[in-house]
Amino acid sequence: MSGLEQDRVIIFDTTLRDGEQAPGCSMTLDEKLRVASALRDLRVDVIEAGFAAASPGDFDAVQAIATEISGPVICSLARCHPNDIERAAAALKPAQRSRIHVFLATSEIHRTYKLHMAKEEIIRRAVEGVQLARKHCADVEFSAEDASRTEPAFLADVVAAVIAAGARTVNIPDTLGYTVPEEFAALFGYLRTHVRGIEQVMLSVHCHDDLGMAVANSLAAVSAGARQVECTINGIGERAGNCSLEEVVMALRTRANHYGLEVGVETRRLYPTSRLVSSITGMHVPRNKAVVGENAFAHESGIHQDGMLKHASTYEIMNPEDIGISKSNLVLGKHSGRHAFRERVQQLGFNLDDEQINQAFAEFKKLADRKKEMFDGDIEAIIMNTGVLSADTGGSGPWEMVELHISAGTGAIAAAAVRMRHADGQIVDEASVGDGPVEAAFKALERATGISLDLRNFELRSATTGEDAQGEVTVTVSDNGQCHRGHGVSTDIVEAGALAYLDVINRVCRQQPAHKPPESPAEDKTVHL
Ligand code: KIV
Ligand code: ZN
Repeated sequence: MSGLEQDRVIIFDTTLRDGEQAPGCSMTLDEKLRVASALRDLRVDVIEAGFAAASPGDFDAVQAIATEISGPVICSLARCHPNDIERAAAALKPAQRSRIHVFLATSEIHRTYKLHMAKEEIIRRAVEGVQLARKHCADVEFSAEDASRTEPAFLADVVAAVIAAGARTVNIPDTLGYTVPEEFAALFGYLRTHVRGIEQVMLSVHCHDDLGMAVANSLAAVSAGARQVECTINGIGERAGNCSLEEVVMALRTRANHYGLEVGVETRRLYPTSRLVSSITGMHVPRNKAVVGENAFAHESGIHQDGMLKHASTYEIMNPEDIGISKSNLVLGKHSGRHAFRERVQQLGFNLDDEQINQAFAEFKKLADRKKEMFDGDIEAIIMNTGVLSADTGGSGPWEMVELHISAGTGAIAAAAVRMRHADGQIVDEASVGDGPVEAAFKALERATGISLDLRNFELRSATTGEDAQGEVTVTVSDNGQCHRGHGVSTDIVEAGALAYLDVINRVCRQQPAHKPPESPAEDKTVHL
């Protein structure tokens, strides 16, 4: 069956490629693998794992995902350059099912100012790129970058040429988020009537959200014949982001009566996957975000609450459980056992092995001593932020914060003292003053560990509601031009900040194995409390 005839929409996830290109969203290899396994569990059809030729780190990530993740097609982006295509092919070699995705800009603006190429050269390079990719891989996708601002007749020529060259999927991106639904649907209609052979390929859509229309434009393209949607978790991506996967999937599901199309996504994994990506990237999901925002299923007004009590369908078009949001939010307490904890963790969508459950349960018990009521958000925060899911977190050292003392108040100088233990057994005590307790704690940590960082961003949010809610801190720092993010959670927000800072210090230490604890701490600013 050709792409245009099928009644199923292929979900092509590009969180790890276009999503990762968003400022501040870069991920470590370990984080990419965690996202890739969540995407596999979500049952997306294609995972764009990266742009193998972009850097050795990108190559390694594509190769690792190709090695470890089976089920979805694993794809790498490549420009229409032989080296890019060969790197993509090499990185994808271990994959059970692979795809090379070549792209070239087609619009007049890009031809003139970026590529300095005439129309004929664009067609020649696109064809050569597809042909070379086909030598390495049967599954080749071609994207006409900035397609929505390309002259339709020329776009049709490019599309016809790449189909003849062997592309199986042809992607029509709205690279700048410039188009509007009616215009975009008309462009798909135009291509379908003007390109010979178009019925043999899968037509794909890839939208950016600069005018807030990425989802609407993608759905308009689907209505006009696209059967692959390229999208990202939480809509992360370049500038204003990409089409949001959870929104487009739930629109197709909820309005199946309108679209009449199927999607293979396991929607109950949408919420856990959204939380995972937001925790890893530090890009918080706005409360009012459609589908996965905290308020998406909250009913405040009396009239709505009354209607909901009478029948949920009065004010809910989707069932929160279908997205993986659990109904009962108040969960376990200090006396809850491991069995109940494990069950709750599973209901929240996490697949932890025995060792991870034990570790998470130990953290849960520690927190339960400090907190009256434990909510789902607390359990999520424990799993996401305390090193349970990965070896690549502050939890695995080399530094551990044994004690933190803070002294601060209005009109008083803020001071912090820390006792740190290094994996080699050394204990270091340090202290510092600062412009507030958080800065004092950060400086004390820097002095104790000998790692000095440039703080770029500090974000605090509450993991749950209530007076004793945990604070979740994400810090972004720069170290020799490289960005690192760290997370920390605690019912004490200064401690949450210190743990987040320690998380990044540990990441930096692990990247510099030669790093040793400071021999003798600097004396000038030390404050003995
Ligand atoms: O936005 C875009 O045009 C892209 C292509 C490389 C598919 O991301
Ligand atoms: Zn894009």
